[in-house]
Amino acid sequence: MKIAFFDAKPYDIPGFDSYSAGTDIEIKYFETKLNEDTVSLASGFDGVCVFVNDTVNEAVVNQLYEMGVKVIALRCAGFNNVDTRACFGKIHVFRVPAYSPYAVAEHAMALLLTVNRKTHKAYSRTREFNFSLSGLSGFDLHGKTVGVVGTGKIGRIFADICRGFGMKILAYDKFPNPNAGLDYVELSELFAKSDIISMHCPLTDETHHIIDDAAIEAMKPGVVLLNTSRGALVDTEALIQGIKSGKIRAACLDVYEEEGDLFYEDYSGDVVQDDKLVRLISMPNVIVTSHQAFLTEEALNNIAETTMDNLVKFFEGVPNPDREVCYHCSRKNDCQKERHKKCF
Ligand code: NAI
Repeated sequence: MKIAFFDAKPYDIPGFDSYSAGTDIEIKYFETKLNEDTVSLASGFDGVCVFVNDTVNEAVVNQLYEMGVKVIALRCAGFNNVDTRACFGKIHVFRVPAYSPYAVAEHAMALLLTVNRKTHKAYSRTREFNFSLSGLSGFDLHGKTVGVVGTGKIGRIFADICRGFGMKILAYDKFPNPNAGLDYVELSELFAKSDIISMHCPLTDETHHIIDDAAIEAMKPGVVLLNTSRGALVDTEALIQGIKSGKIRAACLDVYEEEGDLFYEDYSGDVVQDDKLVRLISMPNVIVTSHQAFLTEEALNNIAETTMDNLVKFFEGVPNPDREVCYHCSRKNDCQKERHKKCF
């Protein structure tokens, strides 16, 4: 079986080479992302392996299907970039539901500590023997209230980490987990009472721009916003206005709604044309990382192992309902996956 692996990066290849060795699966790595312009590269392959910024819209799905591609293996948890409705009945889609929720939750805390205690600025200063402390003061996290939006695997670990810092946790989830030991409140109360808000829900039609002008208006003045989930949870223009007005004290973004053409690539020699991103990066109280929250050795290893397992099971016809995705997944609690324990 032949797999076309799109958006391949040097750190992906060793793990996938290792876990594909000894299987009947042959991988060809393409540096380019999958989209309407590049989909023809998948001709002659049985499956494609894609990541967060590959575009798997209806047109791409239909072309893949016409070329005989039978499976899309996402090497990530989120699947908002795949038109699962278009895939239904044509191409099976699998994902890696969890590879290291710790990696993402720990990165969110790293960003919060950095933006608060300004260690990134201190590091640059001391490297130039500038030992001034002016402008470096932060605040104690202990005793502050953190609002966690989305209390799945990552959100709950982030809440645990915050608890370790002596913070009070408020939680919001569309499907609250009664066993999570969390204090669930309405989103409006979370906005009104949180000193820090961290986004850990998936991107869906419902959560698109869940952080907009009205949400920011409802937040506590001086709030710190963390987004390590998906860029389009946040209306970037509203965020910029919120920071400019001082309502938002600081923002940490591992994801950005227009990241697709920029993140993971080196544009240090170019004039970046995305004015909103450039504005954000120019702000002293904003930290942007390039969708790297997942990037730990453990996560990369788990991603390769689970993705290869998904492909092997698919080609062997072994049901794998927990990792198969279909458009019913947005209905979460209703989906029975009753047809041969598969989505279709
Ligand atoms: P999960 O599926 O375990 O948890 C998601 C939670 O969000 C669930 O509890 C669900 O009930 C809740 N939710 C669904 N719709 C909601 C809504 N409308 N409002 C509030 N909550 C809602 O997912 P996990 O593993 O915790 O991942 C969370 C997100 O983190 C992923 O969807 C993905 O977008 C992002 N992520 C980011 C990474 C990065 O490198 N920056 C890496 C991995 C995931």
